[in-house]
Amino acid sequence: MPLDAIATLTKGKAATKLKANPVQVTIERLGHLGDGIAHGPQGAVFAMQVLPGEAVTGNLHGDRLLDIRIVTPSPNRVRPPCVHARTCGGCLMQHADDGFVADWKQGIVAGALTGQGLSAPFRPMHTSPPRSRRRATLTGRRTKGGVLLGFHARASDLLVSVPECQLLHPDVLATFPALDALVRVGGTRSTELHLTVTRSLAGADVLVTGGKDLTADLRMDLARLTESHGLARLTWGDETVALRAAPMQRFGRVLVAPPPGAFLQATAEGETALLRAVALAIGPARRIADLFCGVGTFALPLAERSEVLAVEGDPAMTAALEKAHRGAEGLKRITTQTRDLFRRPLEPDELASFDAVVIDPPRAGAEAQSKALAAAKVPVIAAVSCNPVTFARDARILTQAGYSLDWVQVIDQFRWSAHVELAARFSLPPR
Ligand SMILES: C[S@@+](CC[C@H](N)C(=O)[O-])C[C@H]1O[C@@H](n2cnc3c(N)ncnc32)[C@H](O)[C@@H]1O
Repeated sequence: MPLDAIATLTKGKAATKLKANPVQVTIERLGHLGDGIAHGPQGAVFAMQVLPGEAVTGNLHGDRLLDIRIVTPSPNRVRPPCVHARTCGGCLMQHADDGFVADWKQGIVAGALTGQGLSAPFRPMHTSPPRSRRRATLTGRRTKGGVLLGFHARASDLLVSVPECQLLHPDVLATFPALDALVRVGGTRSTELHLTVTRSLAGADVLVTGGKDLTADLRMDLARLTESHGLARLTWGDETVALRAAPMQRFGRVLVAPPPGAFLQATAEGETALLRAVALAIGPARRIADLFCGVGTFALPLAERSEVLAVEGDPAMTAALEKAHRGAEGLKRITTQTRDLFRRPLEPDELASFDAVVIDPPRAGAEAQSKALAAAKVPVIAAVSCNPVTFARDARILTQAGYSLDWVQVIDQFRWSAHVELAARFSLPPR
């Protein structure tokens, strides 16, 4: 069963043939990026789309095994549900059953915690269903014959067209003709365009970077395509060139129009699971600080019961949240602050009046803010993280200050990828 369809590594346009160096190895474990790791003749060997326990053959190129054949398949091996799985670099784990992937992702979090001398009970994992990704960045390029649109093959500049993608929401897949047309008018053969599509209540919200400079003709073409393909908004570089309808998102009972490219949880199902976990973690808090709040994913639903201070570094996001809150009825007060929480974390005196904190930082984590939280002694903290390593580092800061890590829940909204999202609860023992 030849698994590795990419027997050559592509660099630029030239494909480099690799010299055969056949070996057989047994995969011992998966690394955190999903690569199988085995002992080879001269040290560690890395192999794609394999599973622990599998005996595999292939050609060794440096420390990478290519032209892989599975000699003894794992009982966890399944037929990939997507026809593009062998070549597309978007999904790395389609060859494994859901139970294996769940255990592997939970193991990554447990391993990161162990590395900091911590452990925690795990709540049952949520996994978003296939075809649920509502936000994705595709790459497009003009070619001799037309347009190539898709995802990159793993560690390669080869673009793989993905018309049958099993990850993307059907509404995102349905934008492919529009994206194709945008690349056709606004792309060149020498550069790649990055097209971020976000499903909104009013249609697709599309942000394109890397395209041709805007001219009067290009503006007209882009406006025409926005109209004919029913896009909600089209942003070209940092300029919104067409707005057919405000690209609204709903958080709780409130509609928000996020700025172009604004952060949004990857799936609606993942967002619901995260919100449930956050609500469970903080309980009936009267005053909540929502740190790294984005456009109000947590702040707006939480304001149905509690007063919220919502802090975010991007002024366009706080402005969108404020506007949405002003237009909403029946919510408690939300106060917003635009603030760089890496450089100027909320200090203990500013945190003193809060019953609970929600914190959802970017991948870098929130080291400075965690130190301030550790000193502030807010009774309960709901943490959301997309990086188990920085989460565990920050968890140690809190636990060293007396917090207990009550539970962790993996919320897998990055199905079939190596990304891990989680929610967790920290609390102080009652005084
Ligand atoms: C993982 S997102 C979470 C957003 C929001 N909680 C949500 O669920 O939609 C992290 C957020 O942190 C913001 N951010 C990044 N660096 C920041 C900083 N140094 N200070 C404050 N906010 C920052 C980003 O703009 C982004 O909105």
